[in-house]
Amino acid sequence: MTVNNNARRVALIGTGFVGSSYAFALMNQGIVNELILIDLNEEKAKGDVLDLNHGKAFTNNPTLIKYGTYKDCANVDLVVICAGANQKPGETRLDLIDKNIKIFKSIVEEVMESGFNGIFLVATNPVDILTYATWKFSGLTKERVIGSGTILDSARFRYSLGDYFDVAPKNVHAYIIGEHGDSELPVYSAAYIGSIPVESYIEQHAAYKKEDLDNLFIDVRDAAYKIIQSKGATYYGIAMGLARITKAIFTNENAILTVSALLYGEYGEENVYIGVPAVINLNGVREIMQLNLNNKEQALFRKSASILRQNLTTYFG
Ligand code: LAC
Repeated sequence: MTVNNNARRVALIGTGFVGSSYAFALMNQGIVNELILIDLNEEKAKGDVLDLNHGKAFTNNPTLIKYGTYKDCANVDLVVICAGANQKPGETRLDLIDKNIKIFKSIVEEVMESGFNGIFLVATNPVDILTYATWKFSGLTKERVIGSGTILDSARFRYSLGDYFDVAPKNVHAYIIGEHGDSELPVYSAAYIGSIPVESYIEQHAAYKKEDLDNLFIDVRDAAYKIIQSKGATYYGIAMGLARITKAIFTNENAILTVSALLYGEYGEENVYIGVPAVINLNGVREIMQLNLNNKEQALFRKSASILRQNLTTYFG
């Protein structure tokens, strides 16, 4: 089954901070033709539908936004799940597993009961664990179950490198891979300013120091904690990352994005959803890009995968 990129129909489950910000991004970017908002809190979802539709006159995009229920998932191409508990100050993403796995089991079963046969995109944390859970609960092929993974971490990394080197983030090519969480890692060995490796760029400019890169990564890794401390939650960055993945799917873009994808031997890992660069198109994950990690990066990636697998074993054996 391939997504019908003419229909471009999306069902969004969970219209909290992240979900409603994603809906706002979709409407402003005109990526989809139809967006159905589903939430346990019917009033909230219906309020968002009204609020978003009232902005329609300000956009050139004819996005049809409406309230719906799980049965409406039968005819959509993409189901995006943002529902679930989110991190409170001091909580890690992995602290949310117990609560959110139960929520996901009922959500995914309800969606599949509708006859849904499209692509799942998962944002709720811990996203790697919950994307694996969605794959298991749905029975869909691995290519059609995608998590937001480290797409936001890589964007934060590109922003921070761009800020440090005074270069536009779009011209910084750099990935964060691994768990979307405390064990993620930067791939400096494959980071480029334009087409110049970061290490060479530093050698060319006396103002920059290699030792600054470690702190720069730590700020990226811990960014969510800082934002949650100051405003209670993060939502704009992740919502834009979800919209970016949605665009890659519906335009059959074959874009390379660091999403959470299931490994079947890539990077020497099996049976784990984890953040890796992958080619995304109308059918979901087309292929996983295998970076030539150096020994330190390979060891950190292996550690991150094992942390995720340990947590998976508790729930899936
Ligand atoms: C963050 C959330 C999406 O990193 O986990 O902001």
